[in-house]
Amino acid sequence: MSTQDALTAALASAQWISPHEPVPHPAGQRPAHELTGRFHWDGAATHPAEGAETGAEAVVYATAHGVYELFVNGVRVGDEELSPGFSSYRSRLQVQRWEITALLQAGENTVTVLLSDGWFRGRHGFVRRPDGFGTDTAFLAAVLLEPSAGAARPLLATGAHWESRPSHITRADLMDGQSVDLRLEGLERPGRPPAAVLSTDPLCADRTRLVPAEAPAVRRIQELRPTQISTPGEGVTVVDFGQNINGWVRLHELGPAGTRTVLRHGEAVDEAGLLLVENIQAFDFATRAVLPAGQVDEVISAGRAGDVFEPRHTTHGFRYVQIEGAAGPIGMGDIVAVVVHSELARTGTFTASDPLLNTLHDVVDWSFRGNACAVPTDCPQRERSGFTGDWQVFADTAALLYDVAAFSESWSTDLAADQWADGRVPTVVPNPAGNGPSGSAFEDMAAGSAGWGDAAVLVPWSMWRAYGDRAALERALPSMRAWVDYAARSAAAGRHPGREAERPLEQPHERYLWDTGFHFGEWLEPDTPPAPDPTVDHGIVATAFLHRSAHTLALAEAAAGRPADAERYSRLAANVRAAWCAEYLAADNTLSEESQGHYVRALAFGLVPEGRRQPVADRLAALIRENGTRLGTGFLATGLLLPTLADAGHLDLAYELLFARDIPSWLGMIDRGATTMWEWWDGVTPSGVRGSLNHYSKGAVASFLYTHVAGIRLAESPEPGAEAYGAVVIAPQPGGGLSAAAASVHTRRGTVGADWRIEGGAFRLTATIPAGVTAEIRLPDGSRVSGVGGGTHSYSVAAAGL
Ligand code: BGC
Repeated sequence: MSTQDALTAALASAQWISPHEPVPHPAGQRPAHELTGRFHWDGAATHPAEGAETGAEAVVYATAHGVYELFVNGVRVGDEELSPGFSSYRSRLQVQRWEITALLQAGENTVTVLLSDGWFRGRHGFVRRPDGFGTDTAFLAAVLLEPSAGAARPLLATGAHWESRPSHITRADLMDGQSVDLRLEGLERPGRPPAAVLSTDPLCADRTRLVPAEAPAVRRIQELRPTQISTPGEGVTVVDFGQNINGWVRLHELGPAGTRTVLRHGEAVDEAGLLLVENIQAFDFATRAVLPAGQVDEVISAGRAGDVFEPRHTTHGFRYVQIEGAAGPIGMGDIVAVVVHSELARTGTFTASDPLLNTLHDVVDWSFRGNACAVPTDCPQRERSGFTGDWQVFADTAALLYDVAAFSESWSTDLAADQWADGRVPTVVPNPAGNGPSGSAFEDMAAGSAGWGDAAVLVPWSMWRAYGDRAALERALPSMRAWVDYAARSAAAGRHPGREAERPLEQPHERYLWDTGFHFGEWLEPDTPPAPDPTVDHGIVATAFLHRSAHTLALAEAAAGRPADAERYSRLAANVRAAWCAEYLAADNTLSEESQGHYVRALAFGLVPEGRRQPVADRLAALIRENGTRLGTGFLATGLLLPTLADAGHLDLAYELLFARDIPSWLGMIDRGATTMWEWWDGVTPSGVRGSLNHYSKGAVASFLYTHVAGIRLAESPEPGAEAYGAVVIAPQPGGGLSAAAASVHTRRGTVGADWRIEGGAFRLTATIPAGVTAEIRLPDGSRVSGVGGGTHSYSVAAAGL
C-alpha cells in the first residue's frame, strides 16, 4: 500500500475535532488547547511489546489546522517542531506518521495534543492578518497497528468522545510569541472536561488535501550559548547570542511560583544596550499604523525545581533577548538559544585563504538557515512569508549549500496550487487566499510581479539542474507554462500609458514588451527605500524576465522530451528578446535606462546579441566605476552581478566589489556587525537600523564563491545527462589577492571538488570528479582539458599574472 493510501485508510474513521472554545480570544492572544483521547490496550496477541518480533508497530497518523504537539501517556512524540508544517492548506495538508510502540502500556493509554493557531489561524505576513485559512483550529488523528490486519478499526480515532481542556499555554502565535503559565500544567480541574467539538469548517470535508509529509521536518538543530549578558537597566537583562537565528530560547531558573518573566526578541540593540525592534515593525497598509514587533514570550513560574521554559508554538528571528521580571540574575548557564529550522542535509563547503570570504559564506549560510522554516521565507521576524521573488533569487545558492530538493518541490507544489486561473502567481506562497484574490488591494495588485512570479519557472528549473528529478520537472511544467503564457498575454494586451503618450502609434515589437501591470522592479537598490508604485513603467525589468522565463521554459520542455513546445517557447523567447533590444538597447550599446541591474540582466539573461556583449559589459563596468566602484544593484540582480562581470572580462572588478568594505557591500555589512544578510544595503548605520537584518536575497553572492572563486559549475548548455552535475566545468578564477580556495558540492552523483592554491610561482588545482561524471577543466592561463572522467586530477600552470 502506498503511503498515501495508508494514511487515507488510517484516517477514514477519524473525525476532525476542534477545541471547546466558547469565547474566542482576539487574534495574537489565543491560547493553545489540549485535546485528549483514551483507549484501552488489552495487551493480548497484538501487544506492542511483541510487535518487535512480529514486525507490527503502533503508529499515529495526525495532522492539524494549526500547530500541534503530540503526547502519548505524557511523553512527547518525536522530535519534530511546528507540525504539520506550512503548506497551501486549502489544497495540501501534510499528515505525519509517528511510531509510538515504545510509548504504549497495557491498560489505559492516553493521547494528548497541544493545539495552537500556527500558520492556519494565527497572525502571519506583513500586516499580521489572522484567520488566514479559517477561524477554527482542528485536529485529525488515528492510532493503529501496522501492518494492520485488513480493515481493522483503529485503536483510537479523533471524534466527539475526545476531551477538550485549556492548557498552560495561555497565548501562542507564530509572530506575536507565546505565554506559558506553568502553574496550570497538569492542573486537575473540577468536573468533567467538555467534549471536543466536531469541526464544521467546510475545508475539513475535503480529505483529498491530505498528503504524506513531503517537506523535510522542522527540528531543533543546534543550541547556542550566550556570548554576552548585560543589565542595561534596572531589572532588565539583555542576552546576546552572537548570532542572528530563527528559533527560540530555553530558560532555566524560573524563580518562585508566580514569578512572571517576559522575553522580547530582536536583532539589534541601541547604544544603551536595550533591545531595538523598530527595524522589524511592519505597518498596516490601509491605515499606515506601525504594528507591534511581536516576538514577546512570557512565562509564569510554578516554583517547581527543574522547570524550564521553552516555547514550541512560536518562533522568532533574533540575536538578542531582553528579559524583564526574572527573579534573579540570569547567568550564562541559565539560557540557551535553540536554532530551529527545516532539517536539510548539508551539501556544500567553501574555504578560501582570506577568512573574510569564509565569514561571508557563514553569514549567508546562517541567513538561509534563518529562513528555511517549513517553507523558504523572506525574513524570520517581520513577515515570515514565502515570498516568491526571494526564493527565485536564492534557490540556486541554497542548492549549493544544502539538499533542498524536497524542501523546494514542496513549496513549488504550493505555488502551482496557489496560481490564479489566469496563470498569475501571488507574491507569497503558501497563500492564505488560495488561488485567487485575497481582497487586500496591495496583495492583489502585486500578484504577477516580474521577478517574483518567475519563481514558477526559474525555481523548478534550478532544481532540475541541481538534482535532475525528471518527474518533478514534469509536474512543474503546467505551472511554468501558465506563468509564461500569462506574462506573454499581458505583454500583448496593453501598453504603458507613458509609452502611449510618447508614441501614439504602437510599434510591432511592442506586442512582446511587458510594460503594464504592477512590478516591484529591481527593488531595494542602494539608497532606494521600498516604494511599490503601480504607475511606474518597469517594462525593462518585466520584459527581461519574460524572455528569461520563456527561454528557460523552452529548455525545460526540451528536457522533458517535448520538442514542439520547446520550439514554441523558444520562438516566444526570441521575439521578446528582439523587442527588448528594440526598445531598450541603443545603437551605441547603452541602455535607454541606465542602472547596474538593467545591464546585469541584459548580459546574464542573454538579451544582448553576441557581437554586442563586450561594449555592454564595458558600460556596466564603467557605471560601477562612475559610482565610485560601488555596486548599485538591489534584490533581483545582486546575485548575478559578480558572475556577470567575471564572465564578461571584468574579473578584477568583480573581486573589487566582493572585497569592498563600504556601504553598499557584503563585507561592509559584516564589518558593521551582520551575522546574517540584511534586507537593505544600509541596514545598520550610525543613524539607525532599517529593515530586516535577516533576508537571504543579497546572499546569492555565495554562489560566486562556488562557481567562480573555487570554480565548480554545472555545464552551461546541458545535453541530456548533464543535469544533476552529470557534466561539470571546473573553472577557478583566482583574484582578489587570494592564494587558495576550495569548495565541494555533494551531488546526486557523488562529491565534486575543486581545491586550488598558488605556491612557488605555480597555480595548482586538484579537481575531484565522481565516477560517471564528465568534466571540463578550465585553467586560469586559458588552457582547457575536456572529457575528464571520475577521479582526483591535479593540474599545475604558471601563476604569472595571478
Ligand atoms: C519582503 C521581501 C519581498 C518584498 C516584495 C518585502 O516586504 O520582505 O523580501 O520580496 O516585500 O514583495
